[in-house]
Amino acid sequence: MENLLKELEPSINNSYNNMGIINDVKHEINLGTVEQAEEFARIEVSARERYVPIILGDSLDELIKLIDEVKPTRILEIGTAIGYSGSIMLLNSPDCILDTVELMPARRDEALVNFSKFGVLSRVNSFLGDAYELIPEIIKGNYYDIVFLDGPKSKYGQYLDMVENNIVAGGYVFCDNVHFRGMVMNGKRPPHKFRTIIVGMRCFLERIQNEPKYQSNVMSKGDGIAIIKVIK
Ligand SMILES: C[S@@+](CC[C@H](N)C(=O)[O-])C[C@H]1O[C@@H](n2cnc3c(N)ncnc32)[C@H](O)[C@@H]1O
Repeated sequence: MENLLKELEPSINNSYNNMGIINDVKHEINLGTVEQAEEFARIEVSARERYVPIILGDSLDELIKLIDEVKPTRILEIGTAIGYSGSIMLLNSPDCILDTVELMPARRDEALVNFSKFGVLSRVNSFLGDAYELIPEIIKGNYYDIVFLDGPKSKYGQYLDMVENNIVAGGYVFCDNVHFRGMVMNGKRPPHKFRTIIVGMRCFLERIQNEPKYQSNVMSKGDGIAIIKVIK
């Protein structure tokens, strides 16, 4: 696990450096009470200051639009971080359970505090560890209306393979950061440091746009998002 964390840190720490993450949300999103909305703003600022990656406003808009449309009863999130997106997803889907997994213990602890703060903790199953190892056990016997892929960026294809039989008919996979700082679609040879992520993401996008069992919508919002419907 330590090696995995070391590998992750450079990308995590840099991932918001040039993005300016003020969450300028346009879609109507329920952020709870006035005090809770202020708390979300504080969490955003604190996340930015500490280089903790959380979803960008434009992507959040699309995620909540999807939630409003689907009215999910169960969501799987890979990459809890500090529970920012998880809390917002649950405030916007009152009948929904969230299964969410995070690798870093300190982030997971902070997420639990935040879930409690926003009154959604009782609807969260929070898992600590490497999603790649934990997902098969977590999803056993569960069916998801939405799977939110927001963990390790080089493995989206493998996670899609793992979860697609556990998505309900008409369900979706929502993937964040698919344009990874503009490096996925620029046609250039990726810098060595990000090669695995960029090459992996290019393959993933090609796959979801070409295989007939997927209907996908790839958008240049935030850091790039892909919304995939698995045809059953
Ligand atoms: C972009 S952040 C998630 C942000 C969160 N969804 C939000 O918007 O508030 C990605 C998170 O995935 C976690 N992560 C990375 N690799 C992981 C793995 N193999 N298993 C579980 N979590 C992982 C990172 O530690 C990080 O906190």
